[in-house]
Amino acid sequence: MKNRPSREAAAAAPEALDDHAAAAGQTRDDPANAPITAADASEQERVFDLSLRPRTLGDFVGQERLKRVLGMSIEAARQRGEVLDHVLFSGPPGLGKTSLAHIIARELGVNLRATSGPAIERAGDLAAIVNDLDGGDVLFIDEIHRLARPVEEVLYPAMEDFELNIVVGKGPGARSMRLAVKPFTLVGATTRSGLLSAPLRDRFGQHYHLDFYRRDDLTEIVRRSANLLGVRLADDGADEVAGRARGTPRIANRLLRRVRDFAQVNGAPAITREVALGGLELLEIDACGFDRMDRAILAAIIDKFDGGPVGVESLAAAVGEEADTIGEVYEPYLLQEGFVARTARGRVATARAYAHLGRTRRGPLL
Ligand SMILES: Nc1ncnc2c1ncn2[C@@H]1O[C@H](COP(=O)(O)OP(=O)(O)O)[C@@H](O)[C@H]1O
Ligand SMILES: [Mg+2]
Repeated sequence: MKNRPSREAAAAAPEALDDHAAAAGQTRDDPANAPITAADASEQERVFDLSLRPRTLGDFVGQERLKRVLGMSIEAARQRGEVLDHVLFSGPPGLGKTSLAHIIARELGVNLRATSGPAIERAGDLAAIVNDLDGGDVLFIDEIHRLARPVEEVLYPAMEDFELNIVVGKGPGARSMRLAVKPFTLVGATTRSGLLSAPLRDRFGQHYHLDFYRRDDLTEIVRRSANLLGVRLADDGADEVAGRARGTPRIANRLLRRVRDFAQVNGAPAITREVALGGLELLEIDACGFDRMDRAILAAIIDKFDGGPVGVESLAAAVGEEADTIGEVYEPYLLQEGFVARTARGRVATARAYAHLGRTRRGPLL
């Protein structure tokens, strides 16, 4: 257990490019005030994520039903010596989709080839990747809802019959050839399963939706991380960090990292609740785990749009954030916790949102 952090960190380094943020070429520095929710993490935070990534299903905390069903299908495929059925993971960022893709390959004892929807520009690029796989390998496509249509079409026969349809030649003389490839497992991950085309979705044999984590699972995750990092974390400190992590392991780990810095600078020997609270206050993470952007979103709906309904585009303009980021990163948790509701005409702030910001509803109540 003792030498684990360094070994895991070393093993993790070559995988850095697997991460979708890296694939998108983001190499931002690590500004101390980077939003804790940021999906496009800084270099340092990505290395940190990687060093804490669970390597086996046994290491993967929570999501018990998913682990049981997935574990069973991995075991069955292994016993029969067959390739695992294609797997789709959906859910908000930071819940463990990429970790699970790597875990699957590791548990099957095969290689993983990682890419992402936006990184594949032409159909031929994907065909080359698929053609290069060894039998049983895992092909991981992150952000699979962002595949271009012609690229996506390469996948249909590849997933169904392990064949590629190759067009040879141009113009009237062009003809289509079928090329057999070795059986493989496609693992897709998406934050927006609703944007996946039906033909693609239907070709996955297994679809797992990841839900936000329970507080006790997050407590276990920060405890595990603290162990790996050699940080002294008191029970009440772990509980406080877990309670403000928006149900998200990645955020729990980031909070732990910042709170560890706070403890160190303040000469605190261990992270107790008091120390955690000090650090969280400095980060402007409130009792609900909301950061500045969460509060800006709620405040905008209430103050600028009279409580809503407001469309996500207008809301995005009002808070200076991308509409996609609001939809994928912020909104799911605000919805789940009942601070925002979605109606046919847009988003509305609920009574909980007014109470949280200390506003009273004005104007005629509908
Ligand atoms: N179930 C889990 N148990 C322990 N740590 C987890 C779990 N899920 C996620 N993590 C942590 O959160 C980080 C982000 O997870 P990741 O798999 O990259 O999420 P996603 O791909 O869904 O955005 C991981 O590096 C890992 O440290
Ligand atoms: Mg991921």
